[in-house]
Amino acid sequence: MDIKALIAQMTLEEKAGLCSGADFWHTKAVERLGIPATMVSDGPHGLRKQDDKVDHLGVNDSIKAVCFPAACATAASFDRALLTRMGEAIGDSCQHEKLSVVLGPAVNIKRSPLCGRNFEYFSEDPYLAGEMAAAFIHGVQSRSVGTSIKHFVANSQEHRRMSSSAEVDERTLREIYFPAFETAVKREQPWTVMCSYNRLNGVYASEHPWLLTEVLRNEWGFEGYVMSDWGAVADRVAGLAAGLDLEMPSSNGFNDRKIVEAVKNGTLDEALVDQAVERILNIVFRYTENAKPDTPWDKGAQHLLAADIAAECMVLLKNEGGVLPLSKEEKIAFIGEFAEKPRFQGGGSSHINCFKTTSALQAAEGLKVRYARGYSAQEDATSDELIAEAVEAAKAAKVAVVFAGLPDVYESEGYDRSHMRMPDCQNRLIEAVAAANPNTVVVLHNGSPVEMPWIDRVKGVLEAYLGGQAVGAATVRVLFGDANPCGRLAETFPKKLSDNPSYLTYGGEGNTAVYNEGVFVGYRYYDRREAEVLFPFGYGLSYTDFVFSDLRLSAAEITDRDTLRATVKVKNTGSRAGKTVVQLYVGDVESSVFRPVRELKGFEKVELQPGEEKEVSFTLSKRAFAYWNTQIHDWHVESGEFRVEVGYSSRDIAASAAVRVESTVRIPRHYDLNSIFLDILDDPRGREIIAPLLKTMREGFGSSEDEKSDAASEAITEEMNLAMLNYMPLRTMLSFAGEKADPAALEQILNKLNES
Ligand code: BGC
Repeated sequence: MDIKALIAQMTLEEKAGLCSGADFWHTKAVERLGIPATMVSDGPHGLRKQDDKVDHLGVNDSIKAVCFPAACATAASFDRALLTRMGEAIGDSCQHEKLSVVLGPAVNIKRSPLCGRNFEYFSEDPYLAGEMAAAFIHGVQSRSVGTSIKHFVANSQEHRRMSSSAEVDERTLREIYFPAFETAVKREQPWTVMCSYNRLNGVYASEHPWLLTEVLRNEWGFEGYVMSDWGAVADRVAGLAAGLDLEMPSSNGFNDRKIVEAVKNGTLDEALVDQAVERILNIVFRYTENAKPDTPWDKGAQHLLAADIAAECMVLLKNEGGVLPLSKEEKIAFIGEFAEKPRFQGGGSSHINCFKTTSALQAAEGLKVRYARGYSAQEDATSDELIAEAVEAAKAAKVAVVFAGLPDVYESEGYDRSHMRMPDCQNRLIEAVAAANPNTVVVLHNGSPVEMPWIDRVKGVLEAYLGGQAVGAATVRVLFGDANPCGRLAETFPKKLSDNPSYLTYGGEGNTAVYNEGVFVGYRYYDRREAEVLFPFGYGLSYTDFVFSDLRLSAAEITDRDTLRATVKVKNTGSRAGKTVVQLYVGDVESSVFRPVRELKGFEKVELQPGEEKEVSFTLSKRAFAYWNTQIHDWHVESGEFRVEVGYSSRDIAASAAVRVESTVRIPRHYDLNSIFLDILDDPRGREIIAPLLKTMREGFGSSEDEKSDAASEAITEEMNLAMLNYMPLRTMLSFAGEKADPAALEQILNKLNES
């Protein structure tokens, strides 16, 4: 297809028209030129294809589809291959349903547990989010169907999401809010990127030239089209010039006319319209030329896959005395409405009309399970009657399993949570059940951390997250040991909301949300603070035990152009087969900028039989050691020692090794009379050049050894003298060096310092 030739035949009106949707879900057709309309659909963890009654908030029905676990759960799998399998399944269903693009993955960073949409996002960690997103995109796009990685960028709150400005500094953007997009774009070329509703540093993402063109295309090499989030366009003409190709949904011709006008009155270059059309048509034809509508969509098989995936995502948070796995021979109580009607997906545009669901109660059929409802998920009202019934069931059972978590209304797209608590009626139920039966286990269905005031009174906690339509099957498998839990937290569970680094300013004032915790998001903050948390990032238990040992690095010293190999042994020392996640963190031992203690730079999920040992290797390159330097606007490694650690979580490091990394990049320095000695002395060349000055300076103080009185040397030691000197600007030479002050000499020294 010669797209350029096609564009040459189009009228300006047709071209402007193509830059917005035909309706809620379709791109426009130009029949006279054989340009077809294509359909896009949410996303991300299954299809929400709406046939007639359209809306973007999941209010109206969509076709019957399969709901896979949401990203809060899948991220906890730390399993790239799993995400790819899920992507392939969704890609197949898109082909079957004639969908060109699925609107996902959603990769915004979990800045606060309060974000209403955390359930749809992967992690507080950008590396993990990027790896999961790339793996998912790889799967979907292997089926010749596009993805739309979203929401670009810094859409980490729902509060005022269409007006708020995320005020994020350059380094924080580069280190925290960009990398998930960057990794996915560079590695997998998602067919489309969806810009976010919010503004970034004052400018709407939908009309941000630096974001949509300089960074996304010029730096990262994005080749597809950028679409707006639904209704995110403010100034269409500015948006087009900035790099927003497709406005979604339709503006009913309003913005198309603005584009035409702008071209006609010379404020918009027609070449920019052509460029947007070309990008859109590239994808339209990439899909239509590879469309395979006869691809089967075996929903039954996908339901089973959804159960398999969910089982790989669950995180066992507590298992005192080995209360889990449960025995199929014993009497067990399943308590709580979620056992019967699990909460397995979140509200809003990702809401799927499931063709089938499996609750834990259904999955436990044939086992000795007695059910008591315990609470209603419809309202937070404690019912003495329901609690009494639950207590009775708990007393009669060997183990009582309470299914609890967050009801739908507690977290959804479109608004944030106002606190981190579960409904009171559920907390009370758990307390009552735990008092009645010492073997109480809590299964949680939630999209984001909750406070657990009862944690010391229950023996087990299984975090099932929003595990998709087959979550009940997966839960029963894990509870009864048919599956060994192997998920790890992709986010920190703080003890209480006020412990969270964004607590003081989350949500912002009016339309301004300053991300003032900077790079210290999630464990980067908690670890630096040595703050106690409920459960750390990367944490999760298993029914077997693993030991990581013998961490070896391929070199003790490298440059920032080299790669480093880290190898570690992983052994299953328990008596069951299982999977663990080897997490590799890197930390800069000493740095001139504030850096986290450790940052995740690699992970591998490993399956081991009892007694089996494997070796796992990681390759680290410059980026693993670098921070974003705002002077050179680039990644930079500061020469020095780094710690390479492997751990079971960010708080449980099994082994650590040191490597020295030498930078090959010299950051240019400029000195003037206001430069202080400390900074000059920090530079080896500077140290050499100003050595003679220092001597003069000390003499100027009258502190050379022979002149000093005993009293003076007691009051000011040489060390103190030097320490004070550190913060003095060069210009003080002229004031303090007495008659030895020599402005011409000083200037010469400055010239020399600035020479290289
Ligand atoms: C959401 C997007 C979604 C779109 C279409 C918007 O409200 O933010 O994530 O893809 O609607 O439903």
